[in-house]
Amino acid sequence: MTDTLSVRDNRTGRDYELAITDGTIRAADLKQIAVGDEPGLATYDPGFVNTASCRSAITFIDGDAGILEYRGYPIEQLAEHSTFLEVSYLLLNGELPSQDQLDSWVHNITYHTFIHENLKQFIQGFRYDAHPMGMLMASVSALSTFYPTASNISDPENRQLQITRMIAKMPTLGAFAYRHQQGKPYVYPDNELSYTANFLAMLFKMSEPAYKADERLIKALEVLFILHADHEQNCSTNAVRSVGSSQVDPYSAVAAGVGALYGPLHGGANEAVLAMLRRIRSTDNIPDFIEGVKGGKEKLMGFGHRVYKNHDPRATIIKKACDDVFEVTGVNPLLKIAQELEKIALEDEYFVKRKLYPNVDFYSGLIYEALQFPPEMFTVLFAIGRTPGWLAQWSELVQDKEQKIARPKQIYTGIRTRDFVPINER
Ligand code: ACO
Repeated sequence: MTDTLSVRDNRTGRDYELAITDGTIRAADLKQIAVGDEPGLATYDPGFVNTASCRSAITFIDGDAGILEYRGYPIEQLAEHSTFLEVSYLLLNGELPSQDQLDSWVHNITYHTFIHENLKQFIQGFRYDAHPMGMLMASVSALSTFYPTASNISDPENRQLQITRMIAKMPTLGAFAYRHQQGKPYVYPDNELSYTANFLAMLFKMSEPAYKADERLIKALEVLFILHADHEQNCSTNAVRSVGSSQVDPYSAVAAGVGALYGPLHGGANEAVLAMLRRIRSTDNIPDFIEGVKGGKEKLMGFGHRVYKNHDPRATIIKKACDDVFEVTGVNPLLKIAQELEKIALEDEYFVKRKLYPNVDFYSGLIYEALQFPPEMFTVLFAIGRTPGWLAQWSELVQDKEQKIARPKQIYTGIRTRDFVPINER
């Protein structure tokens, strides 16, 4: 068997042989297939549904089999045995850390959690009702002004420093955005606490001398962070890579990722799921709602995925985490609607035929709500979890000799060359 593709261009009768590597052909190889002086053949792929944009050794997904692995480790094992910072180390460095490496990594992250007071004032400048994702996006981007040397992306030590800073400061920025929205004083990081326990303290501490979150809730949030830590070339990661390909500093590139994640078709979906469940209000209204979805009136938010066409392994783990959280907080009444909706949708031909299954967002919103997060904060939690993934992908990008500035082609459909018409003649 030869790893090539034979192509006949029926316009010219010419034959071409294109190399197949890793199950792909190089789009640039199609350029030689041309008629006369016209530009060579290109591919048209809105939404990148069948185009690889990079080679990556970070995250493996088999959507049909419902497999997700970080650096080869199954997500189920990482969610059960690891911590978010250990998983972050794994994503960034390719291997699980030794005890010494982990201790030093955790220490470095812990000692970079504070943000510059001017950045605090910057967040204070937002209106009281500013969406926390908008605040997060702007403050991540503002970090680049506090660390101008971050633009020196070719220096590995410098990259490592910015990576440490960003993972350390994301919970602080997210928590400050939340406190701002609540009109509550910001709570500074507590270096005695773990990454996730500190985040919860910065969110919920009031006048008590030390805030101690329930261990089961800390564990549930850790699991959620782990589940969100990377997901190969998704919309926001593609945004980080695309902006990063201009060789801008990592804060600016990650700010683009936060922006992409904000959208309701991506990280914003869990917020939309909660809004949908509230609107349905009672299980009696589910049949009408499902009919509306099937009639194309709206989408069943939290269902469907570009890659997973069997099940989303993260949704299975989250469902389990739901039970642990509800043991502490009491059951969220919307859970009944979600469960019933899932049951009906999994049996309905419309959803079965289109391979639409619950994705990670279907249940995560319920947990976040049980943890007392307002819906606007859900995507912020996703962003904190995804930060190591964005940075691992960014780091891989800037070291990849084959990468170039991202610059897709277009098929021009507009009018060609015409003469300017003075305004009084139009
Ligand atoms: N509800 C109802 N119908 C749906 C849904 C849904 N949630 N998702 C897809 N479909 C239908 C489409 O209308 C389409 O039907 P058609 O073939 O009759 O036209 C078919 O299923 C295929 O859907 P596409 O939109 O082509 O699938 P795509 O891969 O482009 O989209 C996406 C994936 C964006 C996730 C989509 O399923 C969706 O919008 N889901 C709801 C939003 C959501 O939950 N997003 C979170 C994704 S996970 C994450 O970001 C962490």
